[in-house]
Amino acid sequence: MSEQMRQRENLAAAANHPPTAAEIRHDPFAYLSYEHVIEERLCDLLEAIADALPDGVSPVCAKLAVDYLQSRFPGHIALENEIVFPVLKAARSVNLSLGHAIKQAMQEHAADEDTAAELAEALTAFVDDREAGDANVLGYMLRGFFEQRRRHIVWEESLLYPLARSNVEAAEVDGLGESILHYLMQSNRIVRVSG
Ligand SMILES: [Fe+2]
Ligand SMILES: [Fe+2]
Repeated sequence: MSEQMRQRENLAAAANHPPTAAEIRHDPFAYLSYEHVIEERLCDLLEAIADALPDGVSPVCAKLAVDYLQSRFPGHIALENEIVFPVLKAARSVNLSLGHAIKQAMQEHAADEDTAAELAEALTAFVDDREAGDANVLGYMLRGFFEQRRRHIVWEESLLYPLARSNVEAAEVDGLGESILHYLMQSNRIVRVSG
């Protein structure tokens, strides 16, 4: 099995194990970590695609990566920007460091969303018409994107969310869990109710 196919399977396996509604109520940040794991597997897939350039890119794997870049990726950013960050900013004990961290995260989100859209377009064009795409440019775009996103996820997991956990009170964390569940149900995302 090629490295791209192996990473494609890893991505599907990660996506198939969302936390249950009870787990999200118990720890809302568990849902964000679940989405971060999916994105880390997407980054692994993008790296395998970059390594396969110029002639070994699997169209099936590239199309799956494009699908994630166009759906799951903006979905995660929307969840953080529209649901998680407003709840954290409204917390009674929010401090300056958390406020600054959220501002930085939102700036990175805006830049990374644009890059993801451009990357999806370039990857699609490359697969559809090999002659039309420049492999060097695509490789540069792929590596720039997955390196930035890996760094962003590590920063959120090691700084932003621990800062939020230590500043936000228990009742507000409960409210965050309910807000995430409501958002997931409204956007038709799969949530296991039990087990
Ligand atoms: Fe983020
Ligand atoms: Fe995130």
